[in-house]
Amino acid sequence: MFGINSYIPTLNRMGYMSPSLDKVQMAFVNYCEDNPSGLFLDIGCGFGIATLAVVEKKRHIIACDLDQRHLDILISRVPKKKKQFLKTRVGHFPNTLLFQDNAFEAINLSMVLHFLPPETIEKTFRSLFFYLKEGGRLFITTSSPYQRVLSSFVSTYERKRSVEEWPGHIQDIAQYVPHRAHLLPKGNIVFCIHELRRLALKFGFHVLDSTFFSREEIPPDLKLDGREYSGLICEKLLKSPLLSLEKTNERLPIHAANII
Ligand SMILES: C[S@@+](CC[C@H](N)C(=O)[O-])C[C@H]1O[C@@H](n2cnc3c(N)ncnc32)[C@H](O)[C@@H]1O
Repeated sequence: MFGINSYIPTLNRMGYMSPSLDKVQMAFVNYCEDNPSGLFLDIGCGFGIATLAVVEKKRHIIACDLDQRHLDILISRVPKKKKQFLKTRVGHFPNTLLFQDNAFEAINLSMVLHFLPPETIEKTFRSLFFYLKEGGRLFITTSSPYQRVLSSFVSTYERKRSVEEWPGHIQDIAQYVPHRAHLLPKGNIVFCIHELRRLALKFGFHVLDSTFFSREEIPPDLKLDGREYSGLICEKLLKSPLLSLEKTNERLPIHAANII
């Protein structure tokens, strides 16, 4: 089941588990290792590729997922001696998984954001911002539009990217990926690093790095030109303007998205 060279479908039609740590997840793991007293969060952990590496380093992490079956598999993969470093929570982020403000040194959100609708993505960024400590780091990866199966969508994406806030919005993934649609939510929003950076800035983060990347194990129908996935690493600023906004009921104006 855990072949290192293959994409493993989730049990709940939420895409695939990462077959190996990508460079953004690796940076998350290294950051955890470098901050031994910190508490870390892995949202949408799946079977726990990133969480397992953090636990291996003896760092404390809370791993969350929509599906308890994924968490059970993760728990079964943690050696007895390392169980003390892992807590799990089942639920929906940001709707039912709630945490204290300033709780985490770093948060990993790997291959989850592209399954959320726009209003939930905004709520997610807002929650991530408040749950991170000041100076804490956020690590994000998503699918990009530059996947072979999405080739006919690229021109739509590129036409919209300078005028719309969500240019990667795909209403029905079956239109582009019929053979994989049974393993994916119907609606997807694919992101370029451009939109990820813009979202991070809009919600008061300082962008440290943004990058496209690929994977050695990527299936041929997804493989295009090395830009198949987008990644972002950012930091919660010490004196962010968002700190002065009401936490739950203020919506940032559209011009804050700064579409250029
Ligand atoms: C594509 S998998 C990625 C798993 C893992 N992060 C990785 O990179 O291999 C997406 C995972 O996120 C979970 N998920 C999706 N939406 C979520 C949400 N709103 N809250 C919590 N978990 C979510 C799914 O159940 C699934 O396990």
